[in-house]
Amino acid sequence: MEQAEVIKPDTPKGGPKHVAIIMDGNGRWAQMRGKPRLIGHQAGARRVRAIVEACPSLGVEYLTIFAFSTENWKRTQTEVAGLMGLFRRYITKEMKNFMTNGIRVRFIGDRVRLERKLQDLMDEVEALTEGNSTVNLTIALNYGGRDEVARATKRLAKDVAAGRIDPDKVDETTLAGFLDTCVLPDPDLVIRTSGEARISNFLLWQSAYAEYEFIDTLWPDFTPDIFAEVVGRYGGRERRYGAVL
Ligand code: IPE
Ligand code: IPE
Ligand code: MG
Repeated sequence: MEQAEVIKPDTPKGGPKHVAIIMDGNGRWAQMRGKPRLIGHQAGARRVRAIVEACPSLGVEYLTIFAFSTENWKRTQTEVAGLMGLFRRYITKEMKNFMTNGIRVRFIGDRVRLERKLQDLMDEVEALTEGNSTVNLTIALNYGGRDEVARATKRLAKDVAAGRIDPDKVDETTLAGFLDTCVLPDPDLVIRTSGEARISNFLLWQSAYAEYEFIDTLWPDFTPDIFAEVVGRYGGRERRYGAVL
């Protein structure tokens, strides 16, 4: 029988190369202070810079952060509009900092539902930071793992229908090549803040063999020290990928 060669066993000697974070708990952080949820989102956005900048010293080359899910449209119009405005301001404000610190920015998720002004800023920051390589920051915006696989499948099906791909040759690598994350390595470590122990549709395909850490801290309280501690724990884990090592 032919063996799948997609997953390569490698025990983590150093730190994780790719960390993905589900930044959860902004709303509760604000509620605990008697403030509107958007204040929590603003506090959360302010936390991102320090975490990105901590990456090089921890050996983290790729950081992927979940900012808005395909399900988050179900929130009130006020919260959704507030978040969209926050994303615009965040990108504009951080542009200079991305260049100073060699941060390459990419976005994953379905862009078409986002407002034009935001899409333009996303294109601009991706083009501007294209030559940077200190940290690869990927922002998941209007991202859902199932939606991503469905969109990938649609494009793959179109290539099959057009005769560009032989359906009998379709394998894991083929499908992975159509995902938004096609240029990124799979995450080694997925962190979720705020105490919830669920994935909420984040990087479903890519996290097949990721290690998970569920942290009680709410995202606006997440510090580089906590980040370093969580990343440090990863080194002690044995990743087996189904094999007996
Ligand atoms: C995460 O914080 C940020 C987004 C989903 C946009 P939440 O807004 O989900 O905060 P909680 O979970 O309600 O506390
Ligand atoms: C996941 O958090 C999405 C982001 C962090 C952007 P949610 O707060 O939306 O997830 P659920 O609703 O608790 O599953
Ligand atoms: Mg939440």
